[in-house]
Amino acid sequence: MSERAEPTTASRPRSTDGRRADVASWPLGLTGVGYGADYNPEQWADEVRVADIQLMVEAGVSIVSLAVFAWARIEPREGEYDWTWLDDTMDRLAAAGIRVTLATATASPPPWLSTKHPEILPELADGTVLWPGGRQHYRVSSPVYRDYVVRLTRAIARRYGTHPALAMWHVDNEIGCHVPHDYSDDAARGFRRWLENRYGTIEALNHAWGTAFWSQQYSDFAEVLPPRTAPTFPNPTHQLDFRRYSSDELLSYYQDIRAVLAEETPHVPCTTNFMVMAGSGPMDYYGWAPHMDVVSNDHYVQSADPHPERDIAFSADSVRSMAGGAPWLLMEHSTSAVNWQGHNRSRTAAESHRHSLAHVAHGADGVMFFQWRQSQAGAEKYHSAMLPHAGTDTDVWRGAVRLGEILRAIGEVQGSRVQARAAVLYEYPSVWAARMDSHPSDAIDPRAEAARYHHALARRGITADVVPPSSDLSGYDVVVVPELYLVSDADAANVAAAARRGATVLVTYFSGIVDPDDRVRLGGYPGAFRELLGVRTEEFWALQPGEEVTLDDGSTGTVWSERLHAADGTDAVRRFAGGPLDGGPAVTRRPVDAGTAWYVATRPSDEAVWDLVDAIVRESGVEPVAPDLADGLEVTRRTGPGASWLFVLNHADTALDVRCAGLELISGVEVAGALTVPAGGVAVVRERAAG
Ligand code: GAL
Repeated sequence: MSERAEPTTASRPRSTDGRRADVASWPLGLTGVGYGADYNPEQWADEVRVADIQLMVEAGVSIVSLAVFAWARIEPREGEYDWTWLDDTMDRLAAAGIRVTLATATASPPPWLSTKHPEILPELADGTVLWPGGRQHYRVSSPVYRDYVVRLTRAIARRYGTHPALAMWHVDNEIGCHVPHDYSDDAARGFRRWLENRYGTIEALNHAWGTAFWSQQYSDFAEVLPPRTAPTFPNPTHQLDFRRYSSDELLSYYQDIRAVLAEETPHVPCTTNFMVMAGSGPMDYYGWAPHMDVVSNDHYVQSADPHPERDIAFSADSVRSMAGGAPWLLMEHSTSAVNWQGHNRSRTAAESHRHSLAHVAHGADGVMFFQWRQSQAGAEKYHSAMLPHAGTDTDVWRGAVRLGEILRAIGEVQGSRVQARAAVLYEYPSVWAARMDSHPSDAIDPRAEAARYHHALARRGITADVVPPSSDLSGYDVVVVPELYLVSDADAANVAAAARRGATVLVTYFSGIVDPDDRVRLGGYPGAFRELLGVRTEEFWALQPGEEVTLDDGSTGTVWSERLHAADGTDAVRRFAGGPLDGGPAVTRRPVDAGTAWYVATRPSDEAVWDLVDAIVRESGVEPVAPDLADGLEVTRRTGPGASWLFVLNHADTALDVRCAGLELISGVEVAGALTVPAGGVAVVRERAAG
């Protein structure tokens, strides 16, 4: 099997405006793996700020994200700027050798602005205005708001563009986090422009949206509104296009700000922090990533998740894929508890270290937290930080200092890359469409299903990229296509070509059902993949919550089943046993030229997914990063010129062994063939060169 080629197509960020090649690339003036946090000095008195710098040095902090919510402090009244505190902070950080990703401070407009211009406030689908009092109370489609943002950005860029502490611009913050969809009149205008651009004529829109249904035919773009609260299900393609528009509008907000920064400081790279994590997903980050000079992500685990490491791995592999394999920055996660879930679980320093290193294991070259010093007041005062309320005589602080030491010990991995020969396909618009209302089952959850298959690969030591279906798939020997509901002809052909070339392709239920306009592909499901898979489904058979189907090997499925027929040359590897679909194919396999195409017509139990994935991995010949992995161990390999590093994360509560040889960097101990990683521990082994 061929080695994984360098990514070359859609998943690789490409500059769309020619800037990318001009800016200094990662590591942004940093040596080793970056370490730090959001720093909000505006919340503290000057003597605390002075002490902060000393403590940052003690913890080994090398980079901070500054001024994220500081607009009201920087510009307390319109046109009046107070730079003193920020000048002092930047100077002190520079003197301490700490680099800064300086925010544009636009993430929370000050009261004077929303008082003067209430027309910048966003609206929900039912017309509810989102008032000031929290943060992100702006509509990105407002020309008024954009003017103010551009003015502030220019002022900050001019003041700090050549400051020695400046490493990168941090545009706004988690753009779209609280207001991914705004239904205001400004948004209506923006949406109409976007639609005219997409469709050209109202007839084309009417066709795409299927407006013959329910008397929805438009005679002019001026009649189109955002999909505001309606008596019943709004038109699905209308909803889908509004989601596409909203993601594009948020991106264009970023691009406007970036354009100002590029004009003022063409030498300084630019990013905004993504939110690739479970429970988040309204922004099409594969489309956004090419506009980032460094891809950054924020990741928070769910307190109730018994296996948070699985979501970290899936999210981090997604972010690395968005970055086209290049090093990326973990801009935020938490040292311990967050404050915004129902029941916020604290975590030990060891857990925090393991989670931090998990991101590095998957390609991050920087680890940052929200935030440096725990707030005394405000909505986030119960959110953990590097320096907690109780001060430095705490496990959290000692843990933060220790993490600084660990990251220094493994600093040589910086710049190395993770390579994958397996891919899990994932695309935001397809997920949005799949999770739409008025569908066969609201238990359809492509992200969760993708993460299950991703984990099934990981537990066998197989690293996967998470890429959109338009990507160059030529370097992958295993391609998993989980619930890829909406797919273009070209992307379906791309998947089929991977199988014909020799890859093992596995497609799950509710894939290939509709075209990019959300129109059903007729002639039997799974339309776009019917020929590749050699199957035809005549009817979906969605299951009730808690209902199971049994397969002929005794394994079970939930959520979904279907009345499926296998064509000649397609094997029914498993059949439904009992119930209305008794004897019908449930899992199929078809040889396709040099490769194979598998279809899974239910949501198998975790164990059954593991067995299936074991079968396709064996068939593909892809070798694991480390052999015979014990349950609970996670391994990845980062490779640089002339060297490679094995990351071993033990998520179990017993010590586990892994076969490897080289120098373990955290302990400094030579490993001669087998390494025991303590419960909850991490090892980073510089591997002995082969031969
Ligand atoms: C992020 C945000 C930070 C902070 C953090 C708390 O969404 O960017 O400013 O609010 O969550 O977990």
